Amino acid sequence: MRVARFDQAFLGPLLAGAFAFATQALAAESVFTTLPLATVDTAPLLVAADMRDGVDLSGEWNWSIDPYRSGIAGFHGEAPNRTEQRWLDIDVRKTLAQDNRELFEFDLDHDRKVKLPGSWLAASPEMRHYQGLVWYRRHFDSPAGRKGRYFLRFGASNYATVVFVNGQPVGRHEGGFTPFAFDVTRLLRDGDNQITIGVDSAATAATVPPPVTDWENYGGVTRDVKLVHTSDTYVDSAWVRLTREGKIAVDAHLDGPAAANQPVQLKVAGLPFDLKGRTDAQGNWRATAAAPRALMRWTPENPKLYDVTLAAGDDTWRDRVGFRTIERKGADILLNGKPVFLRGISMHEEEIAANPARVITPDNARALLGEIKNGLHGNFVRLSHYPHSEVMTRTADEMGLLVWSEVPVYWMVAWSNPSTLATARNMLAENILRDRNRASVVIWSVANETPVSDARNAFLRTLIGDVRRLDPSRLVSAALLVERDKAAAVPTMTMADPLADDLDIVSINTYNGWYTPDRLADLPRSVWKLPADKPLIFSEFGADAKAGFHSPDGMQKFSEEFQAEFYRKTLEMADRVPTLRGISPWILKDFRSPRRQNPDFQMGWNRKGLISETGQRKQAFSVLAEYFARKAGEPSK
Ligand code: GCU
Repeated sequence: MRVARFDQAFLGPLLAGAFAFATQALAAESVFTTLPLATVDTAPLLVAADMRDGVDLSGEWNWSIDPYRSGIAGFHGEAPNRTEQRWLDIDVRKTLAQDNRELFEFDLDHDRKVKLPGSWLAASPEMRHYQGLVWYRRHFDSPAGRKGRYFLRFGASNYATVVFVNGQPVGRHEGGFTPFAFDVTRLLRDGDNQITIGVDSAATAATVPPPVTDWENYGGVTRDVKLVHTSDTYVDSAWVRLTREGKIAVDAHLDGPAAANQPVQLKVAGLPFDLKGRTDAQGNWRATAAAPRALMRWTPENPKLYDVTLAAGDDTWRDRVGFRTIERKGADILLNGKPVFLRGISMHEEEIAANPARVITPDNARALLGEIKNGLHGNFVRLSHYPHSEVMTRTADEMGLLVWSEVPVYWMVAWSNPSTLATARNMLAENILRDRNRASVVIWSVANETPVSDARNAFLRTLIGDVRRLDPSRLVSAALLVERDKAAAVPTMTMADPLADDLDIVSINTYNGWYTPDRLADLPRSVWKLPADKPLIFSEFGADAKAGFHSPDGMQKFSEEFQAEFYRKTLEMADRVPTLRGISPWILKDFRSPRRQNPDFQMGWNRKGLISETGQRKQAFSVLAEYFARKAGEPSK
């Protein structure tokens, strides 16, 4: 069970207690509970692991399906016996040939191969709709002359994952969108090593998200797998940023035998900044120092990144960091102290392709974000509805896009289930601790369209509290629903969600004119009753259109003309809301959604994209691009 280690000194016992609780609670819910797996008491964070040396374990892996989970539990739910143990460190074919008392009903080493990372949905036609357990295995040679420590790190694996090295249990993780790592130093051997992992994509009423969503559940190892190498004592987490008081602040945590009272030194290449210090008895170091006058702040227009190093004994931790501040002042969002309007759009983690497999390479990330930055003249992207790849947030840093980052607390979550809360808290923490150094990330979102109830309010207020503790430097929001006055002559909506009081930004998803019988012409006269002292983001609005389907009078839904007119009228409506400070319409690109099955227009795709799944721009694309071009020219409110 992965319980991330946190800088106890900085995060307070309460949060740590929640993660201790998570270990037990999640164990009760995890699909892998019957396995003889040691509970990993603390798991490494390895912040900026993608910048560290190591062995890239992407590439060809063997795979085998296990739809009845026989590798996890026997007929009566007991631990699986030897004939089913996929992780055994044996050559099945050779063993069967040598001893007819042995029986194995699997043989991963001689099963089919697939290239990881990437969801199994694209691995073969019969896997397109498979949801369940798949086993993967690969071999690799141990680095020569091993010294220091070796960690097996997964960028993400959807949804629950169990890991074995050389036949030994390593650990398990729940959550499909955030990184996790295990220290495997003692399990590696000279020469050949084998890794076996089980990935179960099945959602349950207790998981985050629950089974009912509006996007494809891409099962599998969807991001990089890497054997990360560090010295015995290394920098496990570091957070370097510009404070609102104009200082450079650092919070760091070292792990290893020499973590305590260790001299440390923070440098920023290209700036006269060289901050020395020493960790405390727990291996933590927190310091601030005046930012050099020469420091160039990160902005979407000038996304300046600095190479930052933190030297600690034998280890040098590296990251590329942009220095900027984000804050709310009344109804304004201030970037580096100046009001900013967020010209954005929402996006799922799915590459532009006819048959996507959720493989976000730097090129795929640039292709998607380039449509926003260059095509739409945007400065903002809502990475919905779950933490996206670190490739995406690093690319947003490099290209200059502000980011809304979100956990998949979506629709009908098991609000009263302690293990669900523990999973959500862990996922939120893993997301924040991974991306705190990303200048592009400015908003942490804790939920999407969740119905109001006491249990839901308590659940989300716990998450908001976690954000405030983990990262007080950014803003908190959630995509909320509004109440509509059905008796009113014009569309009249009121923000009555009590959670709005706890958020920095009020964000609303509205689909008047698509999911409601409203005439598009009536939308600009809509009335919105909202808090006057908080910024508003319309976090979603949209209409389906099949690229190439036209209805000349624009009146038929699913036509490009209807979608374009929907955008014109909704944008006209949005512009009349005095506290509007940003929009992220739904959605940049058509995306896979099994619930969308209209045979003329959808066939398993949600068509609200402004571009098709292969990147064909629809008429509404230029409507939004022109709106943003005007907005970019205007002084931000
Ligand atoms: C909802 C939801 C999205 C969904 C969209 C739609 O607001 O947040 O996940 O895809 O509307 O209905 O297309």
